[in-house]
Amino acid sequence: MNNKIFIACDTTNVQKIRKIINKTQNSKLKVGYKFGLEFLNSKNGRKFIGNVNKKIVFADLKLHDIPNTCASAIKAIRDLKVNYITIHISSGLEALKAAKKVSGKMKLVGVTMLTSLNNKALKEIGFNKDVKKIVLDQARVAKKAKLDAIVCSPQEIKIVKKVFKKEIITPGIRFNSKKNDQKRILTPKQAYKNGSDWLVIGRPITEGNIKKNIQTLIHHLNQ
Ligand code: C5P
Repeated sequence: MNNKIFIACDTTNVQKIRKIINKTQNSKLKVGYKFGLEFLNSKNGRKFIGNVNKKIVFADLKLHDIPNTCASAIKAIRDLKVNYITIHISSGLEALKAAKKVSGKMKLVGVTMLTSLNNKALKEIGFNKDVKKIVLDQARVAKKAKLDAIVCSPQEIKIVKKVFKKEIITPGIRFNSKKNDQKRILTPKQAYKNGSDWLVIGRPITEGNIKKNIQTLIHHLNQ
């Protein structure tokens, strides 16, 4: 199946997660579930993830720390046996290598510059190069560290693909007019066209009528 989507389950509510999983089952899309900082840090989150069966599970750990701490955190979560975990590439090559050494069967995904940042916001925190140049450097480092996948904006897929030949996962996807806090966005169709393997979609699916949102997405993809 070509249309692969991770649904971002951003809530602390286990009932809501069950509802999201239930209402997003369909035959037109291959669906995985992404659990991020909100759910992972919630009281029932870790336990719930440990018991999810027969689903593709993405634990968006967003590690950003020194090599020893990143590696130790990965060892601490290995019992969950999730399929994908993330680390910020800006943790540096040594941290990425240390993480890769202990990630085992879990795919280690490198996160490039967050899709909520534009050039102005990046300048404020001292990044003066164009975001596309920064992401290209980060893709090179991800390749060196032999990471299994990259998370980037759909606007930067072609740049990443120049140097990184493995899986590409793209958040910053919108098929309605609500951008929320995202800046570097594209539509699902454009993201697949640019070569994304997996899309990450949260609020455009999980807010409001989930089934209807999925139908709108499928309709958009078939147009
Ligand atoms: O609701 P929305 O579709 O904006 O959700 C996007 C998801 O992808 C969120 O869970 C967010 O944490 C994650 N993400 C992102 N940008 C990145 C990396 C991850 O939006 N660069």
